[in-house]
Amino acid sequence: PRKIRTHHLREMKERGERWAMLTAYDMYAAEVFDEAGIPVLLVGDSAANNVYGYDSSLPVSVDELLFLVRGVTRATKRALVVADLPFGSYQASPQQGYETAARFMKEGRAHAVKLEGGAEMAPQIELMAKGGIPVMAHIGFTPQSEHALGGYRVQGRGETAERILADARAVQDAGAFAVVMEMVPGDVAAQVTKELAIPTIGIGAGNQCDAQVLVWQDMMGLRTGRLPRFVKQYADLRSVMSQAAQAYADDVATGAFPAEEHTF
Ligand code: KIV
Ligand code: NA
Repeated sequence: PRKIRTHHLREMKERGERWAMLTAYDMYAAEVFDEAGIPVLLVGDSAANNVYGYDSSLPVSVDELLFLVRGVTRATKRALVVADLPFGSYQASPQQGYETAARFMKEGRAHAVKLEGGAEMAPQIELMAKGGIPVMAHIGFTPQSEHALGGYRVQGRGETAERILADARAVQDAGAFAVVMEMVPGDVAAQVTKELAIPTIGIGAGNQCDAQVLVWQDMMGLRTGRLPRFVKQYADLRSVMSQAAQAYADDVATGAFPAEEHTF
């Protein structure tokens, strides 16, 4: 199958075709979503929560993410694989950012990187883009800045809407090929989407974005507890896996497994 390139995403925007992005952190998820036709896979720093068991995305390291990126890129034939840059690996300077991003491209074989921030990250985006690394930006609520932003809250309400627009313009001008908008009022996200030439990818940003993204364990029902309002649950994998584990354990206890056909 023809590989998805960043220009295909821009062409889809021009044609008004919407698309879906999903996270993937390992081989099977990547293979399944790639075969299902998902054009962009994100190895998110949300692996902190969904793979490594941290309660926030801040502690995850470059090395912890790099190993996951390698698994995902090896298993992907068509999708564009985007590697998230973890907290502390790019904010200090454009040089630091370029060096981290280059590791994800060289060692991870990623096709693009993603970083959090708007106008203040323009120098980082510019250096990466000039140096041959496609960059996806991420504005609105940016989880790596949870403590600076005062918790998980919608960004860009009321007068601060202008800030979202300014950040969106800044990352496009710096050379980003797409921008994620997280927890932004739907009308603000719609205005940004209309104004930008590059695709917007929403998560909790209404239905007027060019694309949407969700964490796969959230939308397939692996995660427990209260889900964010922006998640729709499309499967109940937790029950499927739990029932399979219990059925297996029962069969072992009763001696029903292994049967004759499983035995040499
Ligand atoms: O890490 C992540 O999963 C993300 C997406 C939700 C955009 O950044
Ligand atoms: Na992320």
